[in-house]
Amino acid sequence: MADTEVRLRVDAYGEWAAAQGVPILTGHYVEDLNTVELAPWEMIEGRGAIINLTGSEQTSGAYVAEIPPGQSLKPQRHLYEEIIHILSGRGATTVWQSEDGAKHSFEWGPGSLFAVPLNAAYQMHNGQAGEPVRFVAVHTAPLLMNYFHNPDFIFANPFRFNDRFDGRGDFFSGDGRTLETRSLEINFLSDVRSLGLETWVERGGGGTSMGFELSSNTFGSHVSEFQPGNYKKGHRHGGGAHILILHGEGYSLMWPDDEEWIKVDWKPGAFFSPPDIWWHQHFNVSDGQARYLAFRWGSRKFSMPRLFQPDKRVGSGKSQIEYEEEDPRVRQIFDEECAKWKARAGE
Ligand SMILES: [Fe+2]
Repeated sequence: MADTEVRLRVDAYGEWAAAQGVPILTGHYVEDLNTVELAPWEMIEGRGAIINLTGSEQTSGAYVAEIPPGQSLKPQRHLYEEIIHILSGRGATTVWQSEDGAKHSFEWGPGSLFAVPLNAAYQMHNGQAGEPVRFVAVHTAPLLMNYFHNPDFIFANPFRFNDRFDGRGDFFSGDGRTLETRSLEINFLSDVRSLGLETWVERGGGGTSMGFELSSNTFGSHVSEFQPGNYKKGHRHGGGAHILILHGEGYSLMWPDDEEWIKVDWKPGAFFSPPDIWWHQHFNVSDGQARYLAFRWGSRKFSMPRLFQPDKRVGSGKSQIEYEEEDPRVRQIFDEECAKWKARAGE
């Protein structure tokens, strides 16, 4: 019998990430995706950094990448879902199902959001000669790579998901289709920073929201906005959610039951992830709207295990803290932070 090494607790995604040779950011948050230091990344033939936040719970992951001025990244294809949001710069993406398939191109700029259909080939192009493009991608690679633990199956799989991407010419254009309240089926959004949202009274903060079903993904996204000098209700759900601040200044509190709070201060570009079943609550201390983009499990179209479903795992059934039930320290900290912001703003 061959003397083979026995390996326990293999982290296929972690090993793949470490082998990429780019910085790997960990912890609960990244202060500003716009200024994260990047390094040359051979796989994409651009520059990048991998982000493995604790709250991803090895179900989802993220990276930031840069396309050099006037250049294109190496075409990619993979068996995990990926949502891309453009942080800065202008360009286009080309998508195709196989070498003999028709190529679809669509243009984007700052604030654009889209998901490349599962296992379709795609290439990212910088359309400007004078400045780089920077984007963030949130994906389900940790779940898929650890499940199959075979990179060839993930990156060199010939299967075509024609049910997800039928090759129709208007796949990445149009206004999408309303599925139900605060839910839009759409494959490309030109700018989520200015998109119209719908009222969501239940979560507080004078909030509005809109969720997106992108490219028949099971991993989804939504945009939420809430009022100046206001805060949303605390809530909790499963891991894997990543939040990117688009507008406003404030902070979020995150805490597991009966344990100390973690405070994440934010402004546009901040990126953080509430761990599995941790309470979290968002606070806007500024005089403008606060808006964030969330990447998270929970498709309205496709059924997922309870493990991944927001708000459906908590034993008591309780997943939200009403204002009248909250710890008095919540309001106290908020008042202090609002006063600090006003002092900084010179009011
Ligand atoms: Fe949440």
